[in-house]
Amino acid sequence: MYKIQTLNKISDIGTDIFDKSKYSVSEDCANPDAIMVRSAKMHDMQFGDNLLAIARAGAGVNNIPVERCAQEGICVFNTPGANSNAVKELAICALLLSSRKIVEAASWAASLKGTPDAPKTVEGGKSKFAGPEIAGKTLGIIGLGAIGGKIANAAELLGMKVIGYDPYLSVGAALHLEPSVKIVTNINEIYENSDYITIHMPYTPQTKNTIDAEQIAMMKDGVRLINLARGELINSEAVVKAIADGKVAKYVTDFADDVVLGVDDVIVLPHLGASTPESEDNCAVMAAEELIEYLENGNIKNSVNLPNASMNAVGTKVCIIHKNVPTTIASITSVVGNEGINIENMVNASKKDFAYTMLDVTGDVPPAVEGKINAVDGVIRVRVIK
Ligand SMILES: NC(=O)c1ccc[n+]([C@@H]2O[C@H](COP(=O)([O-])OP(=O)(O)OC[C@H]3O[C@@H](n4cnc5c(N)ncnc54)[C@H](O)[C@@H]3O)[C@@H](O)[C@H]2O)c1
Repeated sequence: MYKIQTLNKISDIGTDIFDKSKYSVSEDCANPDAIMVRSAKMHDMQFGDNLLAIARAGAGVNNIPVERCAQEGICVFNTPGANSNAVKELAICALLLSSRKIVEAASWAASLKGTPDAPKTVEGGKSKFAGPEIAGKTLGIIGLGAIGGKIANAAELLGMKVIGYDPYLSVGAALHLEPSVKIVTNINEIYENSDYITIHMPYTPQTKNTIDAEQIAMMKDGVRLINLARGELINSEAVVKAIADGKVAKYVTDFADDVVLGVDDVIVLPHLGASTPESEDNCAVMAAEELIEYLENGNIKNSVNLPNASMNAVGTKVCIIHKNVPTTIASITSVVGNEGINIENMVNASKKDFAYTMLDVTGDVPPAVEGKINAVDGVIRVRVIK
């Protein structure tokens, strides 16, 4: 029986996928085999020996100690693309909110309740809430993955000119882009040419404050900024100052902090990007499917710390997480060979400092042999799946 712990509320449609005869799913369980999480902070958590995998029902994994997990032989998954339509729709909404003073106008209209001649007052006062249309304007998108790519295509359909920057753009993501989306190789072209800029890339220590005072200084006067990715990607102090200076017209962010809250021309949303029932269901289903495939078959899809790898085994499957260093694979195969066990098929893939090898072998792999593989220099974790 596999034990799955949920650290946040995960949609039932996802947890219902686990076969109850093989899995128990609960919030409180000691030494789980896998964890499902949304935004719970896991950096200070100590992981039990049984923990094989963590599935983040969502895209961003900055709440998970991804590197430490790899070192401890724990595969971390996310659910790329599962919430991308939800964030795309909020980004289109944010574009319009940043242009048309909708939030301010609605709150002014609400303030007229009980006044004697509200219909006349609105007609007289509405001109101060005029704002430009987005059609014909240039939208700069930083990060053209699942979310950025969908926004690019939607903005094109709304009549915007779209320029995008993504130095690691995957072939798959590029193929989904409308041909009219212009890709630039210098991020400064986004800053210099855009009327609206939206950012959709992961937050890492290297991407902290991607947009800071220096980048804002390159932008057009009256630029409108949107941040539905992570608060740390844009320096709040720099944006608030640029708004006070009249450089930035509006900032719409999904990330509250004390610097941006309550500031005129900043619209702070309470991390609503993926908050749709459809997206929560999609993420939960994808996360559960990834865990089942890994726990039962050792196959990896959508891991952020280990390589993708899958294999249909005819015999016993030996799954090995190891360091990506020379001689480790040779040492593993000679341990297996010396025990008289034949390797029928083998898959090996690497991701940065870590690698994953799956052996399809004939016959049994006794615990003593598993122990010998585990003892090979560089091997982090071994699992035998029959
Ligand atoms: N507000 C929310 O609720 C919410 C919901 C989902 C995702 N997000 C955030 O949005 C981010 C993007 O999500 P996604 O699903 O599109 O992820 P994704 O992995 O599909 O796309 C991210 C893209 O960013 C690109 N990238 C990486 N480093 C870059 C850099 N230095 N400069 C430019 N591009 C770079 C990658 O090549 C990739 O194409 C996530 O990391 C997450 O933090 C927020």
